[in-house]
Amino acid sequence: MKRNFIISTGIIAVAFAGMTGIMSMKDDSATGKTTEENTAVLNYQTYCAGCHGDNLEKFTAKKWMDEPDNASVISSIKQGIEIQGMPSFVETFTEAEIEALAAYVKKGIPADRSKLKPAVAAGEVIKSEVQDFVVDTVVTGLDVPWGLAFLPGGDLLISERAGTLHLFSKGKLSPPIGGLPPIRAEGQGGLLDLCLHPDYETNGWIYFSYSALSPDKGNKTSNTAIMRARLEGNKLVDQQVIFRGDHDNDRSHHYGCKLTFDNQGHLFFGIGDRGQHYDFPQNLDNTNGKIHRINDDGSIPKDNPFVNTFGAIPSIYSFGHRNPQGNCIHPLSGELWESEHGPRGGDELNLIEPGKNYGWPVISYGINYNGTILTEFTEKEGMEQPLYYWDPSIAPCGMTFLTGDKYKKWRNNLFIGSLRFQYLERLVIQGRSVVHTEKLLQGIGRVRNVVVSPDGLIYVAIENPGKIVRLVPVEKER
Ligand code: HEC
Repeated sequence: MKRNFIISTGIIAVAFAGMTGIMSMKDDSATGKTTEENTAVLNYQTYCAGCHGDNLEKFTAKKWMDEPDNASVISSIKQGIEIQGMPSFVETFTEAEIEALAAYVKKGIPADRSKLKPAVAAGEVIKSEVQDFVVDTVVTGLDVPWGLAFLPGGDLLISERAGTLHLFSKGKLSPPIGGLPPIRAEGQGGLLDLCLHPDYETNGWIYFSYSALSPDKGNKTSNTAIMRARLEGNKLVDQQVIFRGDHDNDRSHHYGCKLTFDNQGHLFFGIGDRGQHYDFPQNLDNTNGKIHRINDDGSIPKDNPFVNTFGAIPSIYSFGHRNPQGNCIHPLSGELWESEHGPRGGDELNLIEPGKNYGWPVISYGINYNGTILTEFTEKEGMEQPLYYWDPSIAPCGMTFLTGDKYKKWRNNLFIGSLRFQYLERLVIQGRSVVHTEKLLQGIGRVRNVVVSPDGLIYVAIENPGKIVRLVPVEKER
């Protein structure tokens, strides 16, 4: 893989405006576009947008733009421009598709030519094992971005660990959004993940996790909490704390807490062991070292595994976790997958099943950071094995399955950020096994999160200097 990737500044609002063409594929009658035109939009987005921009903004102004016919565009598409890295597409499309694509490009070039930027050239395209792509910087000027949530219109909500929430809209970052609760932004704590209610368009609920202070103990201790609220202008309203971890302590690490809804409307999240009491994760009488499952309003689903267990916290879904830092739903099976920070050499990828014990700190593949032995057991009856573990530890952070078909060669792969080694890991999964891994974006910075946007692109949040980049696919052949 090449390391000299391109950094260009994309404007997300424009990007999404460009996408309406693809969305309208579903309904020709509503847009008044012919099927050929819609196919041209789709072909453009799949094969050309990586180098020429979502909104045709990356072309060098030349005379073909003003010619009366499309002949030279057609010939460029057929022949490509080898010396500058544009491939030939003569084998990719039919004659009719090429004509429709040429007409679309010619018509779509922005009227104001002074705003055009040059196309991405060959050297800027990153060639990974199977998929070529371009790195497009979307947001800069952040510190430690944590959670990302796309609103339906394409705006992006971004949480920062320092305790600020921003809306990125039309290429600009809003001032900090008001109405957040008091947050202990210290160590690993702060404002953590973000997600939208599955029915956000009707009810407007935004969920976020954070390190909540404990006023009764002079604000010196904390634990993870989850709030939901609605956005009104630049402030949050209707705030409701729907979950509060217990056994607060003065430690500022192992809070968890990525948020994920499954397709039945349950909210899943993990809380770490809070870095102190090793008996927390194995006991059901506390919230720490657990994966929890709650309803959208914080109430407890009746079928949670420990609702009838005396003394157990009823939101517990699984236990024996150290510090969960990634979770997502498998797009085909609907299962919950989770990644967590283990001790040295024991970071884990787990498949989470109700009521199961994932073993921390009784079993682990890791050792203490100072090299001393933590446990001599890597397995034990009644305790789950990870699907995969990383030795050396990569500090996995954020994870998502790639849904959609924007990247022809990466379909259904799992993507996980590495804080420690500063890359994005691609995992090829067969059933429940990791059969191959690849390191992408090596050296880009600590990867805090990775999500897929509604239009199917991979967005990656990087720390210090904090920025959000996206990977725009460059397809060559069918
Ligand atoms: C790997 C990057 C890449 C891809 C993919 C790509 N192009 Fe290009 N294209 C370029 C470069 C580089 C140039 C020349 C510089 C410029 O125009 O800014 C170019 C130039 C062009 C030109 C102008 C030709 C001229 O005479 O200057 C057209 C038209 C064009 N591309 C159309 C397309 C279409 C349509 C697609 C998708 C089917 C496509 N390109 C895919 C990189 C690419």
